[in-house]
Amino acid sequence: MKTKLPNVGTTIFTTMSQLAQQYGALNLSQGFPSFDAAPELINLVDVYLRRGFNQYAPMTGVSPLREILAEKTEQISGLSYHPEREITITSGATEALFAAISAVVRAGDEVIVFEPAYDSYVPAIELNGGIPVFVSLQAPDFEVNWSEVSEKITDRTRLMIINTPHNPTGQVWTRQDLDQLATLVKDREIYLIADEVYEHITFDGIAHVSVARHPDLFDRTFVCSSFGKTFHVTGWKVGYCLAPAALSAEFRKIHQYLTFSTVTPIQYALAEYLKQPDHYLSVTRFYEEKRDFFLNNLEGSAFRWKPSQGTFFQSLSYQGLSEEGDAELAIRLTRDYGIASIPTSVFYQNRNDQKLLRFCFAKDRDILEQAAERLLKIQW
Ligand SMILES: Cc1ncc(COP(=O)(O)O)c(C=O)c1O
Repeated sequence: MKTKLPNVGTTIFTTMSQLAQQYGALNLSQGFPSFDAAPELINLVDVYLRRGFNQYAPMTGVSPLREILAEKTEQISGLSYHPEREITITSGATEALFAAISAVVRAGDEVIVFEPAYDSYVPAIELNGGIPVFVSLQAPDFEVNWSEVSEKITDRTRLMIINTPHNPTGQVWTRQDLDQLATLVKDREIYLIADEVYEHITFDGIAHVSVARHPDLFDRTFVCSSFGKTFHVTGWKVGYCLAPAALSAEFRKIHQYLTFSTVTPIQYALAEYLKQPDHYLSVTRFYEEKRDFFLNNLEGSAFRWKPSQGTFFQSLSYQGLSEEGDAELAIRLTRDYGIASIPTSVFYQNRNDQKLLRFCFAKDRDILEQAAERLLKIQW
């Protein structure tokens, strides 16, 4: 059969996790926590399972979850989304991203993708006949070069995908970034997808600013997010999309036939759990402590770093220390030092190698301690 996605094969995440298993290495490659969700949240799922909430949820998601999300979003970012018309619960952010891309992109449309980029964007664009146009961000700051973005906008540009806080670099977009973006898209029919799955994980007092908070961007933005990262439940795959009614209506046409609806008892459990803001607000401090613990333990290492501003990833650089490719080094570290990471080059279309490795610090302290010990042994 002729493939529709010739560039898609086994992902590096699968490869590195397999290698980690093969060599019994500490796995700091794939982005999932080594610890469990709060017992209270697990209990709530149990309660709803036993109460018989086991049939299809409404296509848009259960009302209590949409309502509490509307309340939470209003409180945190002052944005008002109507729970009936503007909030849709999805099977993970991945589904929300796919549905939003499919709602917008037609054959021949250009989509601006900032790279390094999360791996699900490009296949979704291509399956819809779109053309990804890459704006490449460079270490160590990964700041957006707005004149480059401006040059890449054409009459065929229909969508831009923004991810803040950013996987893999941990960068967080500022209000100035949003101002620049607003200036560029003004008077053009360009939609925005804001992948904000790490919305609650930012550090050092840096606030996450939703793309939709910019008054000139709200009307054109699909905010896609997830409960997986916030509540340590990546395996539940429950996410959501916030978008103005006109955009949500188109989004729902796709969601309706992609999955129709999302797992029922978990939606009710999340709705109840979200009533306590501390459950999602405390995650900031929780991960900041982990980042600091990991970096403090790395003191004296040959690697260099800029502390991550958000997400649960930390990049370590060996730029100027060795010419070894980042993919080769990641494999060598797994095999010889027992620690698995992700080479940042895989997040670039052209495999731009900036001598950077991404480590996930959503791990228990003993794992982070051992990981740092192993990384300290690496010298060039
Ligand atoms: C940037 C980014 N977007 C989307 C996702 C997918 O989220 P979900 O697991 O809810 O589908 C991830 C998960 O790693 C991610 O890092």
